[in-house]
Amino acid sequence: MQITTFKLLEQKFRAAFDKLGFNASFPVVLKESGRPEFGDYQVNGLMSIAKSLKADARELAAQVIAEIESEDIFSKLEVAGPGFINITLSNEYLSHNLTKDLLHVVADHPRTIVVDYSSPNLAKEMHVGHLRSTIIGDALVRLYEFLGNKVIRRNHVGDWGTQFGMLVAYLLETNDSDLNLELNDLEGFYRKAKTRFDADESFAERARECVVKLQAKDPQIIALWEQFVKISLNHCQKIYDRLQVKLTPKDAIGESSYNDLLPLVVQDLVDRKVAVDSEGAKCVFFAQGELETPDETPFIIQKKDGAYLYSTTDIAAVYDRVKNLHADRLVYVIDARQSLHLRQLFAAVKKAGWMQAGTIMEHVAFGTMLGEDNKPFKTRSGDVIKLTALIEEAVARATLLVRKQNPDWSDDEINKLAEAMGIAALKYADLSKNRISDYVFNFDQMLAFDGNTAPYMLYAYVRTISIFKKAHLDLKTCLDKKIVIVENDEHSLAVHLVKFADRLLQAAEENYPHYICSYIYDLAVLFMKFYENCPIIKAENQAVQDSRLALAALTSEVLKVSLSLLGISVVERM
Ligand code: ARG
Repeated sequence: MQITTFKLLEQKFRAAFDKLGFNASFPVVLKESGRPEFGDYQVNGLMSIAKSLKADARELAAQVIAEIESEDIFSKLEVAGPGFINITLSNEYLSHNLTKDLLHVVADHPRTIVVDYSSPNLAKEMHVGHLRSTIIGDALVRLYEFLGNKVIRRNHVGDWGTQFGMLVAYLLETNDSDLNLELNDLEGFYRKAKTRFDADESFAERARECVVKLQAKDPQIIALWEQFVKISLNHCQKIYDRLQVKLTPKDAIGESSYNDLLPLVVQDLVDRKVAVDSEGAKCVFFAQGELETPDETPFIIQKKDGAYLYSTTDIAAVYDRVKNLHADRLVYVIDARQSLHLRQLFAAVKKAGWMQAGTIMEHVAFGTMLGEDNKPFKTRSGDVIKLTALIEEAVARATLLVRKQNPDWSDDEINKLAEAMGIAALKYADLSKNRISDYVFNFDQMLAFDGNTAPYMLYAYVRTISIFKKAHLDLKTCLDKKIVIVENDEHSLAVHLVKFADRLLQAAEENYPHYICSYIYDLAVLFMKFYENCPIIKAENQAVQDSRLALAALTSEVLKVSLSLLGISVVERM
């Protein structure tokens, strides 16, 4: 990969700044232009440099432009108002850079990244609350991998704790012959066990005994627990496969896998005086400035009775990830409501000094999925919505739409497209929004054919490939044809295409999949304009036709790659 356009421009202006003697305290503030009529990029912030140098902002901008070595990159550099420079890329630069190399993007410093995502509690069935972590995590994993990082997936499933004692006690009472049937409905099984636990003291007593036996690794109890965990994981795997999420059973490293590490990490933190005794419990306290946002709450890592907690397991998991897996970036795709837990975790392990300098720990937080009533998304009767039910409904609604649009298709064709579209809609609706915010879940919106939606994006892709189908041309071969940018609509599309690398790198750095969604939405809109105004098949001559074919082919591939990074497979027709 060559240097990205953004970095190239930054370098050019940095060099000019240096020549003029502006030191590093005067950064180059480069922005993509919001108003294409003024150019493609913009340098801002010269005003404040002018102020501190007591110079005239306009003149300063003119001096900067005079120092820029342009080498045909720019067709126009102009002072716009005091202290702004508008930048227009030259069509030569664009033509030269628009090759299929554009599809090959690599991170500057590839890392070993452990991504903790999905991570449901295995005592129950997956519900809507697990959708965001699963989908956002999957998109990030794909993106990091695409950029050449080594990625290790960690499905940190909840497979340990008192609930499992209760479930195992209930399993003990269930006839072997009924077992599979019972566990088909995990949710029902959990409910029945819980009802029994609450109502029957002798059962509750047996459940507590099971917890003790589980911890003591009693073979019979462990065998039942393993059986339960396996069935529950199978439930998850079915959902992952259907969602085309890349998680496999191998990635499910549950809380229980860290059991042996727990006493060791607690001891280590005590030895290092990071954890101290507080009323019998082991706690980490944070001084001013140690937590990103101050909070008085101590991080309890071992209870008075010796029991370990969610926090202890997470500390052990960090230890494993940095010491054994040699991760230098740890990513946690977890609900924003766990933000204090993660801030405490990060601060505690920093204090422990386990981390190599430069290791990054990030909480990729996300908001809540809300119902139309703006309250957390539930069924009418207030129950949690199972993920399977949600997927079923998305696909069922997509089926109606597809059938209506293509009445002459066979059931098989309809079902295939509906499955792809329903799943794509679920994912895209989530990924296209800034993950930090809560969002109102709405089937009609996510399945709409216009706006920044999955159906619109899939349709945009189908339009690009249909050009080649109609002309009986091979799209991949057309990628090698020479692009020569001339028309305005070609220029706008080309500028957007060369931004591809920068946008992916930025999305990976900030963990924002929605950057990719808005990028391809804009791409689709620019492409439609180009397609309307720049005839391809009826182009005035062969060279122009070839160039436009190559532009369309490149757009098509960028769309396909981008969608695949979001975990969405394209379709061939709609
Ligand atoms: N099982 C947890 C829950 O359902 C999420 C675990 C997230 N990952 C972690 N390392 N804490 O809330």
